[in-house]
Amino acid sequence: MSRKNLKVCIVGTGYVGLTTGVCLAGIGHDVVCIDIDEKKIRMLKAGQSPIYEPGIEDLLKVAADKLSFTTQYTDCKDADVIILAVGTPSAKSGKADLSYMEAAVTEIVNYLHGEKFQVVVNKSTVPVGTAQRTEMIISSILHKQNRQANFAVASNPEFLREGLAVHDTFYPDRIVIGAKNTEALNSLRNMYAPLLEQTFAAPKACPRPEGFPLPALITTDVTSAEMIKYAANSFLATKISYINEISGLCEKVGADVTEVARGIGLDKRIGSRFLQAGVGWGGSCFGKDTAAIINTGLEYAYEMPIISAAVAVNKRQRSRMIEKLQESLKVVRGRTIGLLGLSFKPDTDDLRDAPALDIIRYLVEMGARVKAFDPIAMPNCKAYYPELAVEYTDDVLQLASGCDAVLLITEWDEFRRLPLEQLAERMTGSKVFVDGRNIVDPGVAQEAGLLYIGFGRSGYESGWGYNWRRFHRQLTGKQAVGE
Ligand SMILES: NC(=O)c1ccc[n+]([C@@H]2O[C@H](COP(=O)([O-])OP(=O)(O)OC[C@H]3O[C@@H](n4cnc5c(N)ncnc54)[C@H](O)[C@@H]3O)[C@@H](O)[C@H]2O)c1
Repeated sequence: MSRKNLKVCIVGTGYVGLTTGVCLAGIGHDVVCIDIDEKKIRMLKAGQSPIYEPGIEDLLKVAADKLSFTTQYTDCKDADVIILAVGTPSAKSGKADLSYMEAAVTEIVNYLHGEKFQVVVNKSTVPVGTAQRTEMIISSILHKQNRQANFAVASNPEFLREGLAVHDTFYPDRIVIGAKNTEALNSLRNMYAPLLEQTFAAPKACPRPEGFPLPALITTDVTSAEMIKYAANSFLATKISYINEISGLCEKVGADVTEVARGIGLDKRIGSRFLQAGVGWGGSCFGKDTAAIINTGLEYAYEMPIISAAVAVNKRQRSRMIEKLQESLKVVRGRTIGLLGLSFKPDTDDLRDAPALDIIRYLVEMGARVKAFDPIAMPNCKAYYPELAVEYTDDVLQLASGCDAVLLITEWDEFRRLPLEQLAERMTGSKVFVDGRNIVDPGVAQEAGLLYIGFGRSGYESGWGYNWRRFHRQLTGKQAVGE
């Protein structure tokens, strides 16, 4: 494939825009990242990342000569490709709020022209019809200005995971491009060629996984591309809610959901990922994207009962955390409760729709004293809840000190190796430990003196699941199949 380095403008320099920008610069394109947030741009110009994302600061240095940051749209004039990566949060109705998208489109029109072909790419997650609407907005502004431009609009949904964003951008499973214009398709194929062919030199901060297969390129119509993103996120959210629903029944019948998940996950048709029961999903995407697809259904008088149920089950998991606390402590008012982890998942500082936010609010409303520890997300939580009296601590032991109960909310890797005995020594009363991610061995926690409560793990009382696995590990020095 003949290929050239392109001039790329990215509008919106958040988790998606910044990662896309540094990675496209890393594979040789000339990239300008635009944002209306002056503070963000100031930090980036100084070489600092405004978000916590592993590898991103290293790449900012490595790709510095190919990358620039600005609050001005003027650089869009030279761009071959303009990528829209602004936020599309939920409006109150659940509909995607497209006001940031439309504001950005209105700005970039001024820099579209007829001197060369330019592709406008929707990378933000947007409902079906948005590419068509983007084209309509651009055309009608051009018409009013009595100007013409040589452009096309394409859809290129993003599938990166926060915490692994750089990895997922360099080593994606697939790249989806929705376009009706062949020139637009070719331009984007050209932009992604080094990723599709894996011909770029892998950066030190993010080495190529051994045996990494070439990513698939899916070229399709724009509507299908827009649907692919919502269908993917809704499916993943539903898979988590499915195992959470099963976990509730496991508690009733005395089974261990971690054993059940292991047993079903080894079936290749099912797969073991997204089968971890616990306090449920959060983050900037699953909540808003499930709400938006349900809303799209409603626009067509089409109900989506499976996705609606997945949302309801997820909401119930957050309440289950509080119920478990009430069942064990009986009275929560006046107790000291410690939260281990705040971000919606490990390796990110992102708190959007994090279960911890709801749980903090419930606990404060119930009259508990709330302490918290998170390796990265505490400053964001302080900013989110400036009025709530949460005590932020320096480490897990300081957190446990004086707590009646500790709730593990985020599965940060360091929480998999908690000093449980020291934690128990510092706690008070019945020393309740609610494991919202089922990552702690119940037997080890109980031996350490904690009253362990997991999600869907009542089976451990019979001793079978966790004892069997520990026995297997001791005997063979290896993990059991599917662990
Ligand atoms: N975060 C993820 O994991 C993820 C993954 C896949 C897809 N997405 C989708 O990507 C989109 C962006 O998500 P994000 O998490 O990066 O959001 P974000 O809030 O981190 O970033 C959005 C950025 O856009 C900027 N912005 C808003 N209006 C602007 C304008 N008119 N001009 C220039 N900049 C503007 C904001 O200041 C902000 O920095 C969303 O649609 C989201 O659903 C996100």
